[in-house]
Amino acid sequence: MILILLGPPGAGKGTQAARIKERYQIAHLSTGDMLRGAIAAGTEVGKQAKSVMDAGKLVSDDIIVRLVEERTSAADCAKGYLLDGFPRTVAQAEALDELLQRKGQKIDAVIEFAVDDDALIERISGRYSCATCGAGYHDRFQKPKQEGVCDNCGSTEFSRRSDDHADAVRTRLAAYHEQTAPLLPYYRDKDALKTVDGMGEIDAVTDQIFKEIDG
Ligand code: AP5
Ligand code: MG
Repeated sequence: MILILLGPPGAGKGTQAARIKERYQIAHLSTGDMLRGAIAAGTEVGKQAKSVMDAGKLVSDDIIVRLVEERTSAADCAKGYLLDGFPRTVAQAEALDELLQRKGQKIDAVIEFAVDDDALIERISGRYSCATCGAGYHDRFQKPKQEGVCDNCGSTEFSRRSDDHADAVRTRLAAYHEQTAPLLPYYRDKDALKTVDGMGEIDAVTDQIFKEIDG
């Protein structure tokens, strides 16, 4: 199964990806997480991406397509995968089509998260994650069961993303509307687009996604 999660920053892609991965037992591929991993590891890609990401702009298609090609060849992708934050431009979508055609695979569904811009800003400004395992939380909408302790791994260390400040968020939203939104008609024309109402509570959004995938 090959799925794509498409939606603006803060729409809930990462939150829902963790649940989809668990239910369908497929790999979760977040290009944002891959880039943050490259920055933490100090690789050449990480060095090139850091300032672009902190400013809220998109990293070049060449770098991203190379990362995805490599990652999708790994053994854990054999049974399928979930793309979170990729593709983000029409050029990336075309590169993905080409890659899948070469492998004789196809996209099962593109799930679009429809969320108002005002809600996105509220979600991003309250977001934090476990510094050890990466589990995601929110100051109001998704608190750990025990305050200050990660539900998943018990760690007490948390961090916030360096691109979650107001200026970068504005640029990220503009990049979504200008460069990524053209993918909606692209996938609608291929009859692959399924839109869910991303304004509901986290569990309600999960229910809608599972219904769309199960058909
Ligand atoms: P990336 O890491 O992909 O970030 P993004 O697209 O900006 O999306 P986010 O991760 O911010 O949001 P999300 O939708 O995952 O929301 P989440 O579930 O965390 O990309 C970062 C940067 O990397 C880009 O700006 C770019 O520079 C670069 N990059 C990455 N991919 C690229 C590509 N393909 N091409 C070029 N450049 C690329 O939820 C947010 C918060 O809201 C959480 O706290 C959560 O608890 C809460 N929440 C979630 N759902 C709900 C709900 N239903 N109700 C209430 N709260 C909710
Ligand atoms: Mg994310």
